[in-house]
Amino acid sequence: MKAVIFDLDGVITDTAEYHFQAWGSLAAALGIPFDREFNEQLKGISRTESLDKILARGNLSEAYTDEDKQELATRKNAEYQRLISAVTPSDVLPGIKSLLTELHDAGIGIALASASKNAAFILDRLELTRYFDSVVDVTAIRHGKPDPEIFLTGAANLGVQPADCVGIEDAQAGIQAIKGAGMFAVGVGTPSQMQGADIVVASTAELSLSMLEEHFCEFTKRGSL
Ligand code: BG6
Ligand code: MG
Repeated sequence: MKAVIFDLDGVITDTAEYHFQAWGSLAAALGIPFDREFNEQLKGISRTESLDKILARGNLSEAYTDEDKQELATRKNAEYQRLISAVTPSDVLPGIKSLLTELHDAGIGIALASASKNAAFILDRLELTRYFDSVVDVTAIRHGKPDPEIFLTGAANLGVQPADCVGIEDAQAGIQAIKGAGMFAVGVGTPSQMQGADIVVASTAELSLSMLEEHFCEFTKRGSL
């Protein structure tokens, strides 16, 4: 295990909840039903794709011009940015700070593979930027999750082979992206939400360097049999 590539929202901090709230407000204003189960489909995917899915759910795909959609996406982002402006280092999820410290001390590469254009701002608010050897520039990514491109770019930025990487995700699209990249996939959530993950933890508090190394080792041994 030479590198760990992290998703941000829902893995490092609970901003997945703020995305849910901000989309929920917009959906309510548009009269579109919105709940947590549907929200699972939005995790990991871009702002514009999320809006398209929400509008499709309300049979409103054809009801708005591209300009209107741009305005709706901006409205959602304004609400999201209002919510994340209050993020502090105390919002880092359990176990994450100690995991980053252990990885850093062990010389293991650390990258961020987030679909969010707000990722760098949030890392700064959490005071975690200095731990990351690479923050993948999502604006340069052509194919979003579930495509593996963002995880492959993270590995390339760190100069490591995908097979030597662990990816950590809370989204179904993210797990698909990690597996598509040929990496070991850790899911945070329930096994039904994290289908295809190599291991699933209910909470980030379960993550540690020794725990990841142990599972990664078992996985690579099984693969070479
Ligand atoms: C992902 C989230 O990390 O970023 C998605 O899981 C979100 O819910 C996506 O839509 C894009 O985020 P942003 O901040 O660019 O709108
Ligand atoms: Mg996420």
